[in-house]
Amino acid sequence: MNRPIKNSRKLSRDVAIVGAGMSKFGAFPGISSRDLFLDAFQEMRLSVDRGFDPREIEALYIGNFSSDIFEGQGHTAAILADWTGLTPRPATRVEDACASSGVALRQGILAVASGLYDIVLVGGIEKMTDMPTSQVTDALATASDTLYEVPAGFTFPGFYAAMATAYMHAYGASVESFMRVGLKNHENGALNEKAQFGATIRQVMDKKIAGALAKGRPAPQWEDELAFLKDERANPVIAWPMRLFDCSPISDGATALLLVSAEIARNFSEAPLYVVGSGQASDAALHDRDTLTALCSAQLAAREAYQMAGVSARDIKIAEVHDCFTIAEIIATEDLGFFPAGQGYRAAEEGLTSRQGSKPVNTSGGLKSKGHPVGASGAGQVVEVWKQMRGEAGARQVAGTLDLALTHNVGGTGQTSVVHIFERR
Ligand code: COA
Repeated sequence: MNRPIKNSRKLSRDVAIVGAGMSKFGAFPGISSRDLFLDAFQEMRLSVDRGFDPREIEALYIGNFSSDIFEGQGHTAAILADWTGLTPRPATRVEDACASSGVALRQGILAVASGLYDIVLVGGIEKMTDMPTSQVTDALATASDTLYEVPAGFTFPGFYAAMATAYMHAYGASVESFMRVGLKNHENGALNEKAQFGATIRQVMDKKIAGALAKGRPAPQWEDELAFLKDERANPVIAWPMRLFDCSPISDGATALLLVSAEIARNFSEAPLYVVGSGQASDAALHDRDTLTALCSAQLAAREAYQMAGVSARDIKIAEVHDCFTIAEIIATEDLGFFPAGQGYRAAEEGLTSRQGSKPVNTSGGLKSKGHPVGASGAGQVVEVWKQMRGEAGARQVAGTLDLALTHNVGGTGQTSVVHIFERR
């Protein structure tokens, strides 16, 4: 019998984030994911205001999609426990495709909330760039339904292209609507020293012009950024209507968070972030859904997180959402209730999701510009929220009191979604 889903869930005790760090995201030949994880771990250690002894960590939860395929290394969590000197602590790898470290975070929260542990390390890693793009594409496609979808020719750009065309048909969005998301996320990423593509679209254009001139070729002429993004040569179609600058890149990177029970949070941090909402849901693969223009799992995960936190979409000051493709950000802002269905693209066009807008989204640059080392991305979203809520985001700092923030991490085409809400008290 299918029991109805419980309306409101609560954690048995409160949990706080007291440290957060990440490696730079990008392509790092010759550097293994374990070394990238050490970078993230070290930055996390330094971010703990009152310091701590890593030997106090009682357990690890590590998000990783597929180091087996990408690096020929399975059993990732135990490897990282050893590399960080944390053996014999229990180390658990969490795999939920691109939502791996968002779900690892949830597992860490549940472990602390249950009372089993007081101090837990949550992290994520992925090292994707040692393989050619075609092989990475095949590896990523294993996160879809390989029985029905891969034989039909689907890849991840293809899935999100299908969602984008359905969305355009349903609501009248245009390719320009998607380009606005890419433009905005590159503006933000240009202010993030950890971003893989830390350049605005204008800076990308200028670099291409300088490169052509240096080779003695005529300088390309683009009227503005949109003209550049509409130029087939500068911004080729990957899977129509998704072009190069609508796609997150292939990335290496690692992230680390320190979670503790709320009652001891102030022993570690002057400004902890309290986890007030957590929601997770699953769904069928894309071919087997009623709609292509929304992710039901994200809507359910958001509802659970909002109910747990006792807040609504209106209360959220900033959000990091899963923009693996530009269409995904637009759909996310609707699934999370920031804008009504079919209005997310207008909000993007009107700049409502920019740093100065009413609902800043992906101030880090998002997966599009910051990079998307898939298993590390969910915890990476929390690193940005950590910086923003503590007023440590430098040039990309959002003004005002950021007392509530949200992260939204998606696995595959939405077979998994996980949403978290954080409070700064
Ligand atoms: N956005 C902007 N520029 C990008 C880019 C991206 N996503 N990916 C690569 N580039 C740039 C490179 O920096 C390089 O620029 P240069 O010529 O000035 O040096 C150029 O494009 C070619 O790079 P290359 O690595 O050869 O690109 P590619 O064609 O092999 O890969 C994609 C491009 C879009 C196919 C690849 O990034 C991709 O598959 N992205 C999606 C990943 C994905 O599906 N993740 C899971 C989501 S659920």
